[in-house]
Amino acid sequence: MYSRIAGTGHYVPERILTNAELEKIVDTTDEWIRSRSGIEQRHIAADDQTTASLAIEAAKRAIEAAGITPGDIDFLVVGTTTPDLVFPNVGTIVQEALGIHGCAAFSVEAACSGFIYALSIADKFVTSGESKNALVIGAETLSRITDWTDRSTCVLFGDGAGAVVLQPSTEQGIISTHLHADGQYKDLLYAPAGVSKRPQGDLNKEFAIHMQGNEAFKLAVKTLGAVVKETLEANSLDHDALDWLVPHQANKRIIEATAKRLGMPMEKVILTVAKYGNTSAASVPMALDVAVRDGRIKRGDLLLAEAFGGGFTWGSALIRF
Ligand code: COA
Repeated sequence: MYSRIAGTGHYVPERILTNAELEKIVDTTDEWIRSRSGIEQRHIAADDQTTASLAIEAAKRAIEAAGITPGDIDFLVVGTTTPDLVFPNVGTIVQEALGIHGCAAFSVEAACSGFIYALSIADKFVTSGESKNALVIGAETLSRITDWTDRSTCVLFGDGAGAVVLQPSTEQGIISTHLHADGQYKDLLYAPAGVSKRPQGDLNKEFAIHMQGNEAFKLAVKTLGAVVKETLEANSLDHDALDWLVPHQANKRIIEATAKRLGMPMEKVILTVAKYGNTSAASVPMALDVAVRDGRIKRGDLLLAEAFGGGFTWGSALIRF
């Protein structure tokens, strides 16, 4: 028994923030942002939008694509670092908005790897027979934890959501998932204020993302290289077998390094970082849905999805679409 992706969806808020606009806010240039990260623009949530509202729109699209109704969903998990509230969790807010009642609904906090973690959990519920229609979402409003005076981070992030519906299948679907974390790197990428750890001083800065970009970059390249190798070896596959790499969209140069490690040409890599920036847990399901809807990813294709984020956390999924 496998779990198989029955439908995908994504949603981004209407407001686009271009590099040219950022040039007016901080000491940066379009050329610097493009050449260092590959980012050209990002979408920013409206004041009345939250992580859950983006997640709801992505979920509706995935449910429609799967050819089911919200009432069919019997398991709901959201990967997010930017929940609406301390509680109730984002999963229950999405659940209520979609008119679903009674099934398990929760969120997973694993920074940019949140969707891969959520997918791995949902896969276990579907393959064990406990769920027939699992809704798996990655959703973020990173703009709410961005310090808009810090040029080293504010040019990188964006808001958005992506979702998939998993169903049981006798045909291959999620073939394997590989999850990892190492808390020794917590100081390289973090948002310092929390709930149990009370904010001190300037709230805007305390809640904002702090990153040692260069160190995070080097570890991301190394770690993602290792996890894609692990995934192929675990399945006795050569990189030639892969049709698509669906990477976390933090930085085009990190993605290029991973593709090079896999010996994959960039034509086989789904890239959304230019339009959406880094949307953390939302980036993998957003990239997946973009490529499914534009016809690049087809039924039967073999995909390798991977992500890396604060903690550090990282992981991958080998998927027969
Ligand atoms: N505009 C112009 N200059 C900027 C800038 C900006 N927005 N942000 C930083 N700089 C400057 C720095 O101050 C530094 O100047 P200095 O050399 O005078 O000190 C210079 O640019 C180079 O900074 P550096 O950090 O070495 O650049 P980089 O090539 O590493 O690129 C990142 C920076 C953030 C794009 C890159 O490190 C990155 O993407 N990091 C990892 C992101 C990531 O994977 N996160 C984890 C997963 S979410």
